[in-house]
Amino acid sequence: MTTKSLKVNYNLVESSDHLPVDEKKLVEEARAMCGKAYAPYSAFFVGAAILLENGKTVLGSNQENGAYPSGLCAERVAAFAASSMYPGIPMKKIAISARTNRQQVSEPVSPCGACRQVLLEYETLQKGPMKVILSKESGSVITIEKAGDLLPLSFTGEQLKKPN
Ligand code: THU
Repeated sequence: MTTKSLKVNYNLVESSDHLPVDEKKLVEEARAMCGKAYAPYSAFFVGAAILLENGKTVLGSNQENGAYPSGLCAERVAAFAASSMYPGIPMKKIAISARTNRQQVSEPVSPCGACRQVLLEYETLQKGPMKVILSKESGSVITIEKAGDLLPLSFTGEQLKKPN
C-alpha cells in the first residue's frame, strides 16, 4: 500500500477591495444576489455571479422548496442558467457569497459537493479554468484558480461516454 496526499491551493485575500476590478464587481453582484434567495427553510441566503468569456454576467441565488430536496443551490442555479442561455461560452469566473438572518457568516462560503461536480464538468468541457471566488457579507475572500482544485479525485464522467 502507498499512502498519497492531495493539496488544495487557494489564496486568502484580506478584502474584496484587493481583488482585480472585475472580481470585486463579481463579488458585489454575488453579495447582492443573496437578497434574492428564496430560502424560507434554512434562512441561509446564497448568491452567485458567473462572468462569461463573452463579458456577460449570469446571476443566481438559492431556491428552496417545501419538498426539501427539490431546491437548488445558488451556484447551480447560476451555472445551469449560464449554460442554458449561452451554451458553450466558457465560464471564466464565479463569485459566491452568503448571509443569514441569525449571525454573521464566519467563513467565505464554499460550494457543496454537488455544485463542485457541476462546476468541474463545465470547466472540463470548456478546456480552460473557471476561477472560484468565495466570500461572505464583508471581509476576507478566498480565491481558487480553477474549479477542479476544489474536487480532487473527482468523478470524471469518462465512464458514461458511449463508445463510438
Ligand atoms: N446552499 C447554496 O446555495 N450554496 C452553497 O454553497 C451551500 C448551500 C444553499 C442550499 C440551501 O438552500 C441553503 O444554502 C442551506 O444549505
